[in-house]
Amino acid sequence: MKDLSPILQELAALPADRPMGLPGVFYTSAERFEWEKKTVLQQGWHCLGRVDEVPEPGDFFTVQLLQEPLIVVRGDDGAVRVLANVCRHRGMPLAEGRGNVKRFICTYHAWMYGRDGALLRAARMQNEGFDAKSCRLHSYNIQFWNGFIYCNLDAEAPHFAEESQELDALVSPYETGSFRLVHVAEEIWQTNWKCLVENFMEGYHLSVVHPQTLHGYTPTGLARKSVSGPGFTSYTANYPEGIAPRGAGAPGLSTAERQRSTLFARFPTQVASQAASLLVSLSIFPISAESIRVKWTMSVYGEDLDDATIQDRIRLWEEVNREDREKLEKMQIALRSQHAVSGPLAGDDYEGTVRDFQLWLAEQDRAALA
Ligand code: FES
Ligand SMILES: [Fe+2]
Repeated sequence: MKDLSPILQELAALPADRPMGLPGVFYTSAERFEWEKKTVLQQGWHCLGRVDEVPEPGDFFTVQLLQEPLIVVRGDDGAVRVLANVCRHRGMPLAEGRGNVKRFICTYHAWMYGRDGALLRAARMQNEGFDAKSCRLHSYNIQFWNGFIYCNLDAEAPHFAEESQELDALVSPYETGSFRLVHVAEEIWQTNWKCLVENFMEGYHLSVVHPQTLHGYTPTGLARKSVSGPGFTSYTANYPEGIAPRGAGAPGLSTAERQRSTLFARFPTQVASQAASLLVSLSIFPISAESIRVKWTMSVYGEDLDDATIQDRIRLWEEVNREDREKLEKMQIALRSQHAVSGPLAGDDYEGTVRDFQLWLAEQDRAALA
């Protein structure tokens, strides 16, 4: 929907000390969503999950990224691949959920694929022209970063390694890549994908929406903007002085790094909270203008947290996500109002990340229109 694009450019051009948010229509319009699919989502690197979700050969999980059903699988050679979950015969999905397989066998006519996507067997296919080698499952471009798996639907998309060195530096003391998975969950939320990016990435709502769950450790008043750059933004949610540390984490962490959670977004669809001993990451899979599938993972540093503490943290984050979801689903309805106009944003420490996201969206729009 090109006619919203000039509004986005006007908002992005506002002076840094007078930022305004996007009007509701950006979050509710089906046309805008189609436009964003073409201009932002199809070319984006999307976090699908953690490498240690598939530790052994044959371990797999499935996700739906826009219109593409995908299988993330570890092959016999140890490599993780992202394959199209679409049979090369007549298009049946080959796998559901997660598990471990020796082969992917299609439930329709039993074509059999290896864990690298090669077609191994197709019963009764005796046609002259049939060539099994040309029936390999499509394998997508992937990239790994700190134990996360990213996929891009666009084969031409450049990698993000070059442009996010500041983000690398921010998280590297935590040894994010060595965190071990303890929980995965998925749910469908009735909200726009951008609403969850913005919600997760601003500290302004912490004390209001999460008085029991987060306020004690990460009150709004201690939120501070951190580094941002092409394709990412971040802030730190600092713990009050004198509060008990929550696990020692990696040996190289400074005292300040142990006394805060670092929240970062990798646009378009990953948001995460990195603390000394706990890592929570949300992958947002947009379904429509007004619905998303949220997949979230929790990982821990070494043996820092005992089982009971891990169970407590899972329950805490289930509650935090429930609190955010309730707000966003209510807001989604009000955003359809003609009175959901552009509203003033708070300063850098509280909503500077929302502004960063807006500037990034505006840049993607300019590139698409150029
Ligand atoms: S659709 Fe898969 S074997 Fe026919
Ligand atoms: Fe929240």
